Amino acid sequence: MDELTRNSEFDTRIAEGIKIEPKDWMPEKYRKQLTRMMSQHAHSEVVGMLPEGNWITRAPNLRRKMALLAKVQDEAGHGLYIYSAAETLGTSRQELVDQLLTGKAKYSSIFNYPTLTWADIGIVGWLVDGAAIVNQTMLAKCSYGPYSRAMLRICAEENFHKKQGYEIICTLMKGTKEQQKMAQDALNRFWWATLMMFGPHDSNSPNSADLFKWKVKKKSNDELRQHFVNITVAQAHTIGLEIPDPDLKYNSETRNWEFGEINWDEFYAVIKGHGPCNKERLQARNDAHDNGAWVREASIAYAKKKQGKNLERFLNVG
Ligand code: 3HC
Repeated sequence: MDELTRNSEFDTRIAEGIKIEPKDWMPEKYRKQLTRMMSQHAHSEVVGMLPEGNWITRAPNLRRKMALLAKVQDEAGHGLYIYSAAETLGTSRQELVDQLLTGKAKYSSIFNYPTLTWADIGIVGWLVDGAAIVNQTMLAKCSYGPYSRAMLRICAEENFHKKQGYEIICTLMKGTKEQQKMAQDALNRFWWATLMMFGPHDSNSPNSADLFKWKVKKKSNDELRQHFVNITVAQAHTIGLEIPDPDLKYNSETRNWEFGEINWDEFYAVIKGHGPCNKERLQARNDAHDNGAWVREASIAYAKKKQGKNLERFLNVG
């Protein structure tokens, strides 16, 4: 079949909402876009374990420690899940991980901010996972089969993450003045960085046109950001938190909370590697990779031995 026919068949599948599966023909650009997006998503999950992992040994009680342990463990699983889905597009796990370790690949900007107090852990669960849910609920309907199915499983767990984060903040807001101040301070430091998670304004989003054409994105960066703001402002006000945005105002016609301008210089500086924790995060991932080399070597040696035995048994039987 010539390229033209293949492309038109592919476009028909997309138009009819038929999932694209790994063995299906797809335009190279589709493959590249999905590999880029899914690998960065997987990197985000794995790097995202670092700011929260930092507080596991310092959780205020056993219940909080267990919930945080479960959440961080979930994130590791989400990373592995999405790496596996990304590998179906033909790039090996090793190559994807090398792109992260050498600083070539991006991961979500939000994880380049430090978690300074226990309240930050509540804010990360509530806001960051809340933002991820808004985005991932859309991606659960995307055209690439393995990615959309991975999102279904992940969104269910993200809901627990968001709830445990919001409950931490609710508890602090019912606590002492110092605890309320700690929660407000954490919100002040993470609010704008969370809005950046949704990416640049639609007018500055070079990848969105492709991703819309191929029904990977069904809502734009700005639409998802606005939806997140609308649900989160109400949750913040319910427990007495102030959103750190003097331009925030409710528009009763559009029923949107209109908000101020994001600091895009900060956004582009962070995604270029100049955020507060970029170097620390990359170093931590490289250290973990190096310290874990023996596990990879042992597993490969065992698999080869096992395979060898199975091969021998097969040949003997054969
Ligand atoms: N952090 C880092 N890079 C970002 C970014 C962010 N917050 N927002 C955008 N970028 C990058 C894009 O990757 C792109 O760079 P590239 O072409 O070199 O990859 C550039 O900025 C331009 O942005 P676009 O809008 O054109 O890019 P996209 O169309 O890909 O949209 C996105 C960006 C919304 C992040 C989209 O890629 C996406 O939805 N990705 C999948 C979801 C994801 O990765 N979420 C990250 C959070 S995961 C998480 O929070 C874990 C949870 O368990 C807590």
